Amino acid sequence: MKGMMKQAGIRGIGVFAPERVLTNRDLEQMVDTDDEWIVNRTGIRERRIVADEMATSDLACLAAERALADAGAASEDLDLIIVATNSPDMLFPATACLVQDRLGARKAGAFDLQAGCTSFLYALTIANNFIATGYYKYVLVIGAECMSRIINWQDRNTCVLFGDGAGAVVVGEVPAGYGILSYHLRSEGSGGPLIALPAGMSRLPASFETVAKRLHYVHMNGREVFKFAVKVLEEGCLKVLAEANLAREDLDYLIPHQANARIIEAAAKRLRLPMEKVFMNIDRYGNTSSATIPLALFEALAGGNIRDGDNLVMSGFGAGLTWGAVAMRWYDYRKEKEVG
Ligand code: UT7
Repeated sequence: MKGMMKQAGIRGIGVFAPERVLTNRDLEQMVDTDDEWIVNRTGIRERRIVADEMATSDLACLAAERALADAGAASEDLDLIIVATNSPDMLFPATACLVQDRLGARKAGAFDLQAGCTSFLYALTIANNFIATGYYKYVLVIGAECMSRIINWQDRNTCVLFGDGAGAVVVGEVPAGYGILSYHLRSEGSGGPLIALPAGMSRLPASFETVAKRLHYVHMNGREVFKFAVKVLEEGCLKVLAEANLAREDLDYLIPHQANARIIEAAAKRLRLPMEKVFMNIDRYGNTSSATIPLALFEALAGGNIRDGDNLVMSGFGAGLTWGAVAMRWYDYRKEKEVG
């Protein structure tokens, strides 16, 4: 079967970051915190906050339109749209359906995928399999979040960490030897309470009490998540390298989930990977959950850090608990335009 499989890879990418910047100094006016603590403990200097009139599907559509343009594909070409998000416009209809309608993607199926901050990587692996089997030609994968709408702005443990943004990729067939080489998806549900948004659904339906107790916002045990994160960022990376028959030295670039600069640095150290091979933009966006990896990939490409044939690993973790990684040999689809 494997011999008949196609190679799937990224054939277009686009991002959208809201214009409004919230700095650490701004946060000093809102909660008992300071710029020095935030920079030293997290690496974050500022984050973007969505405009009042916008929601996650709006960010998702803007990123998607740019990704389609980059791919030279039309919305009618899409077979499937997956929105990876933990902050959908509403529980249903799915944000992906709102995006499908807005883009005019008439022949596409659409669904949301929620796996904490690992959602984008989960969605990418699903897209990979639909392309690899030849079942679909183009799958749009979007990581989009309005985290500012689901965090408690009175809780300094969480509100300084998150930001809003979106990144989209068009997944399609790429030439043999390129594209997604391997993936690793895992869950450890026993750690669920470490990051949770407890109220508003069947366990604790919304009530005056849940709102008064602020249970409709993100609650997190940062210290425990930190320890877990360092371990699984490394583990995910090693697993996908091994599965792709690559040695550590073959890894050209790591795109980690951007949750905390100290987590990324600790994982890089365990992997014996110099920081020049690790992308970080958490200083400017904070943790945009499902959007961090496509936002980071976009900026790494724009900065010329990734070239045709480079071996990349994207590795992440998040609520669930979940973690996962994807290894990919970068295909520079933009060179096709230069030739054609
Ligand atoms: O995408 C996945 C989602 N989440 C994560 O990846 C988060 C992972 N965890 C982390 O990034 C870190 O654990 C945090 C940044 C959340 C916290 O850093 P830490 O070094 O683990 O600090 P801590 O939780 O051990 O807290 C140290 C102190 C505490 O004071 P006491 O109890 O020692 O007096 C906190 O109350 O820092 C205090 N603190 C703050 N101080 C100023 C916590 N938040 C703040 C704040 N400003 N914003």
